[in-house]
Amino acid sequence: MKILVTGVKGQLGFDVVKELTSRGHEVAGVDIEEMDITDKSSVKAAFSKFRPQAVVHCAAWTAVDAAEERENRQKVRAVNATGTENIAKLCAEYGAKMVYISTDYVFGGDGVEPWTCESTPSPINYYGQTKYEGELAVRENLKEFFIIRTAWVFGLNGKNFVKTMLNAAKTREEVRVVGDQIGTPTYTPDLARLIADMIVTQKYGVYHVTNEGGYISWYDFTREIYALAGIKTRVVKVTTEEYGLSKAKRPFNSRLDRSGIVANGFEPLPDWRDALKRYLKSLGG
Ligand SMILES: NC(=O)c1ccc[n+]([C@@H]2O[C@H](COP(=O)([O-])OP(=O)(O)OC[C@H]3O[C@@H](n4cnc5c(N)ncnc54)[C@H](OP(=O)(O)O)[C@@H]3O)[C@@H](O)[C@H]2O)c1
Repeated sequence: MKILVTGVKGQLGFDVVKELTSRGHEVAGVDIEEMDITDKSSVKAAFSKFRPQAVVHCAAWTAVDAAEERENRQKVRAVNATGTENIAKLCAEYGAKMVYISTDYVFGGDGVEPWTCESTPSPINYYGQTKYEGELAVRENLKEFFIIRTAWVFGLNGKNFVKTMLNAAKTREEVRVVGDQIGTPTYTPDLARLIADMIVTQKYGVYHVTNEGGYISWYDFTREIYALAGIKTRVVKVTTEEYGLSKAKRPFNSRLDRSGIVANGFEPLPDWRDALKRYLKSLGG
């Protein structure tokens, strides 16, 4: 299949290109230099050059705190909402399937029950709002789509929580990490494998995808990162309130109900601890 992948320089796009290529697809991985998703004519040109049968749309404005700044808002919406709409419209024109990567931040983050695919979105912050507008654009323009909501993403190619904590340990004897925000990490090669499984099917719809292994806090995650990496830095559990306000509001409840994966005959992702072990190994740890 001819597959266009956006955000190839980011965490997920990089691994999606790798996975799809290894399965024998004809893949074009693009980033802003080859195709600026906010520019309709640039998206049009890329489609007419490559003529994709499917698109995996991983590109996004992912700087969640910066997204709150007044001067960035227009740009954030242009990338996450209008950019996604531009791609969805071209997918409709070319009869291409679309995979859109969305986020747990489309939900309000309250309560303790896992969010199901049927839960009503109520975005927690501006980034979440614009990602939700992206979802709506996909639904409005296409029938053959997969919307994959994921969370706590970590991969080789880019910034993420694991790298931040490993770096922090180089200079600190103690780190404070929140223990009251609960979710599950997602390793990009594992998510890429499921995307590659899905894209050759017609099992369209909304999916919630993270690694398996239960729901944990950022504190739990940090403890495991340091234990596996043999790091002695002390991890102190704090509440979100004690940690102090970040610019963007963060969800206490990022639990995603992943039951749709197995219900549709797909293989779930491995346990996040197993994923973390493989990740640390790939970082050379
Ligand atoms: N990271 C997470 O924890 C997380 C959680 C839930 C969902 N997600 C979603 O998962 C997807 C993949 O996330 P990720 O962590 O792999 O993201 P990432 O590493 O930040 O990569 C996003 C890529 O999109 C590119 N991009 C930005 N503006 C663009 C434009 N106008 N045209 C073309 N490309 C543009 C970025 O380029 P520049 O670097 O040059 O800006 C970057 O290479 C995103 O849709 C994100 O919303 C992520």
